[in-house]
Amino acid sequence: MHDDPWQVREADFPQPPTSRAVWMYLLNYAVLAPSIRNTQPWKFRLDGDQLEMLADTRRALPVADPHRRELVISCGAALYNLRVALRHFRYSPVVELLPDPAQPGLLARVTLGPRESPPPIADDRVFKAITRRRTHRGEFFAQTVFAASVEAMREAAETEGAWWFAVTTAEQLNAIAGLVAEADLLLMGNADYRRELADWLRPNYGGAHDGMPGYALGLGNLVAAIAPVLVRLSDIGKRWSQRDARLIRSGPVVAVIGTMADTIVDWLVTGQALQAALLQARVHGLSAAYHNQAIEVAPFRQRLAQILRRPGLPQLLLRFGYAPEGRPTPRRPVRDVLE
Ligand SMILES: Cc1cc2nc3c(=O)[nH]c(=O)nc-3n(C[C@H](O)[C@H](O)[C@H](O)COP(=O)(O)O)c2cc1C
Repeated sequence: MHDDPWQVREADFPQPPTSRAVWMYLLNYAVLAPSIRNTQPWKFRLDGDQLEMLADTRRALPVADPHRRELVISCGAALYNLRVALRHFRYSPVVELLPDPAQPGLLARVTLGPRESPPPIADDRVFKAITRRRTHRGEFFAQTVFAASVEAMREAAETEGAWWFAVTTAEQLNAIAGLVAEADLLLMGNADYRRELADWLRPNYGGAHDGMPGYALGLGNLVAAIAPVLVRLSDIGKRWSQRDARLIRSGPVVAVIGTMADTIVDWLVTGQALQAALLQARVHGLSAAYHNQAIEVAPFRQRLAQILRRPGLPQLLLRFGYAPEGRPTPRRPVRDVLE
């Protein structure tokens, strides 16, 4: 077992595989999921061969995410990683979403189930993608994405119960770019929003186990060190919004993941669909960027739904393309997320 989750190795699978040892080991894969601002808003509780996943509301973002929608989506992504890892190590887990309505913070319960005998899974690329996936926030290479890759992401997201909408017309792309730019101006003009964002910015060196290091935002060491102060004190919305609009217009693939309703289960479904699509993206050599600002502001979310002209609610707005290999961002060790 490694303290640093990025060093989790298949060879370290516990022997003998007792329930507790297996859960402790597999959580190393769960925590590699993406999360809003890298808040890692999850915690876990072990009960024999059952594992419970709970929302860690101390890590909520009251300004950017007042209903904790993106918090739950992040937990859904961690749950998907856990499911993939369980399958990889030949378990057939039983997953219950919101198993006890009397405990609202309890998001899922997973029962380990028996271990199947080999043969092992033939296609392991999705499992391997867990440790290789990174968010890329800059421009993508000017290279067309294969239609088969987009199709694989769509299928992965839909299999998890979400809808997937890939933007194909220039008219829609322009409208979405304009909408995100407008939402950026609104959000970054809010000092509380900027303060909350600044709280999760980290220097490039310093040993933090959460938050976004400057390098993940394309910042050098010096700028990364002063970024929290800059973001807190100055309204950088204009530059930010122009950049976002330009990035969205340059694609190459812009897609929306959504659901038909907006319950906690829908958010958990979205998180699993997100991670399913992101791992497929990685299998196909693609990286992803997020542009959720237009979804974080209710009237803008409605306008986005109108631009898409399809029923249901947008949950995530993403951009996909080919990017240079990025550095991993930090994670809290498993012992810190286990109650
Ligand atoms: C629900 C959700 C919302 C996110 N929103 C944004 C966003 O608006 N902008 C952004 O740059 N990254 C966003 N991210 C990406 C996280 O910042 C990223 O996952 C985290 O910093 C960890 O980095 P990694 O994905 O490279 O492992 C989001 C991730 C999730 C799961």
